[in-house]
This record gives sequence, structure tokens and C-alpha cells, in this order.
Amino acid sequence: MLENKKDFLDTVDFSKQTLLKIIELGSRMKKNKAKYSSALKNKKLGLIFEKSSTRTRVSFEAGIYELGGIAMFLSSRDIQIGRGEPIKDTAKILSRYLDAVMIRTFKQEDVEEFSKEASIPVINGLTDLLHPCQAMADFQTILEKKGRIEEIRLAFIGDGHNMANSLGLLASALGAHFSFASPKNYEISPEIKQKILEKAKASGSQVLFSNDPSEAVKDADIVYTDVWTSMDQEKEKLERLSHFQGFQVNEELVRNAKKDFHFMHCLPAHRGEEVSAGIMDGPHSIVVDQAENRLHVQKAILALLMK
Ligand code: CP
Ligand code: NVA
Repeated sequence: MLENKKDFLDTVDFSKQTLLKIIELGSRMKKNKAKYSSALKNKKLGLIFEKSSTRTRVSFEAGIYELGGIAMFLSSRDIQIGRGEPIKDTAKILSRYLDAVMIRTFKQEDVEEFSKEASIPVINGLTDLLHPCQAMADFQTILEKKGRIEEIRLAFIGDGHNMANSLGLLASALGAHFSFASPKNYEISPEIKQKILEKAKASGSQVLFSNDPSEAVKDADIVYTDVWTSMDQEKEKLERLSHFQGFQVNEELVRNAKKDFHFMHCLPAHRGEEVSAGIMDGPHSIVVDQAENRLHVQKAILALLMK
């Protein structure tokens, strides 16, 4: 349980204090792997994937193993959910076999329905709306690299989809500044904007929503981007390629950022689209470190929920 909640579906469900506690435990687990090797001895974690994954799948599988438990990979191509078995039936049945479930799917409402019907902890491994585990790993990484989170300026250049939403919500909850730039018609939704603004008001973080990437990147400590075409948007790929011209994170754009800025990307990345190869593979890039931290922060989430 975390703050009396059995699930980890969205960072907005938790206080700043709890979110920092998770990040700090993730850092301790990273430094002292052996200490936690029996923390979830013999516990079983199901991993339901309705979309592809490299990092999420492998980091959760490796993570539960490092805590003494085991993972079961449940692709929707193989389990009956992919043939239309109702979520509520799957959630109830899996609750009788397993100790927790992580789900990657399309609609946030489906994860919420699963969590309502399941008696075991449910973790959001990405929906179209949110990617909270990635955002947690990202702020663990920012803390490691910058020594603090408050007043760090994170600029996100891309669309108002799962990554921008989760980063904006977490940045504003933790007191980091958040600047966002997208082309017109790819903005963060009014509902999520409202939540970000409410969090920012409480924490004192500054927020900017723009259609100008240079304005968003100005004085940024972190320049973050994500793919222009997310999973299940493939049919929009050509029009997105054209609408996002001018939004590539490249050597020219980052001239507006702080000199010691870090480049971040949740991955997978497309060099030559949302980011130039020079920035992706250059000295400012910390994308491999942030991917590694998926493992550590998710181990903290698992341990705190499943204990
Ligand atoms: N960043 C991330 O979630 O990667 P995968 O899609 O490979 O899991
Ligand atoms: N926005 C991307 C994130 C992948 C981790 C997607 O949904 O495909």
C-alpha cells in the first residue's frame, strides 16, 4: 500500500512526499542491490502488454527477479483479453493467481477498470494518457544528475500525449518548472493542463504552454522529447512528420538551453525526426541512464505496493 492506495496508476494520486520517498528508495536500491534481494521473495507479478515494449517489459521482469519474485509476461496476443474476454473477469481471475499486475494498454479507463475489479496492486505501464513509471525514473535521473528537483527547468518538445502529460504532472507536483511546446492542434488537453496548473500553484513551479520550441527551451536544464508518432498512431505518421517540422531537438534549438543542459528521451527514438543524431548520441544525452532508472524506481514501486 502507498498512502492507503493499492495501485500505482497516476502520480497525481500521491503527495509530493510519497513521490520523493519512492524516488529515494529507488536510489537506495540502485546503490545496494543485495540488501533488497528477498524483499518480494516468491511474489508473482503479471505483465499484461497490449502494445510493444523493450524497456518496460525487461525492467519489470528483471526488477521483480532482483527482489526475489517472478514475472509472467502476458501478451494480449496470447491471453483471452485479446479475444474480447472482459477486463473485469481477467482482473478477478488474475487476482486469485498473482500478487500484482502491470498493464500497458490504450485507454486509461481500462487500467482504472482493471484496478477496480482486481484485489491485487495494479501498476500503469503506459496508456495513451500517461506513462507514470517513466516520469518517476526520469525525475530520479534528474535528481542524480542535478542534485535537486525543485526549480529545475524541464522543457518538453513534442505532442500532448502520455509522456508530456506525465512529465508535466510530476514536474509541477515536485516543484520543477515545466515548459511545453507542440505544433498547433497537438497541445496538452485542457483537463491535463488544468491539473498541471493546480499542482504548479501549490508547489510554486512555473509552467509555460507554447507553440514555439525556442521559447520553451529557453534556459532549460533538461530538454526532453518523445516520438512524433506514438504507438497506435501509425496511420497519422505522414501528416505528423509534416506538422512537426521545426520541432526537432537539434544543435540549433538547444543553443537556447542552459550550457550544461541534459537531453532526455523516454525511447525508442527516431534520429533525424524528433532528435538529431548529434544530440541523441552527444555529450549532453543521458537517455541510457534514464532508461536504467526504470529498473530501480519500479523496484521501489513494487516493493512499496506488494509488501
Ligand atoms: N520508454 C518505454 O516505455 O520503453 P518501451 O516502450 O520499450 O517499454
Ligand atoms: N509516446 C510514446 C512513448 C513510448 C514509451 C508512445 O506512446 O508510443
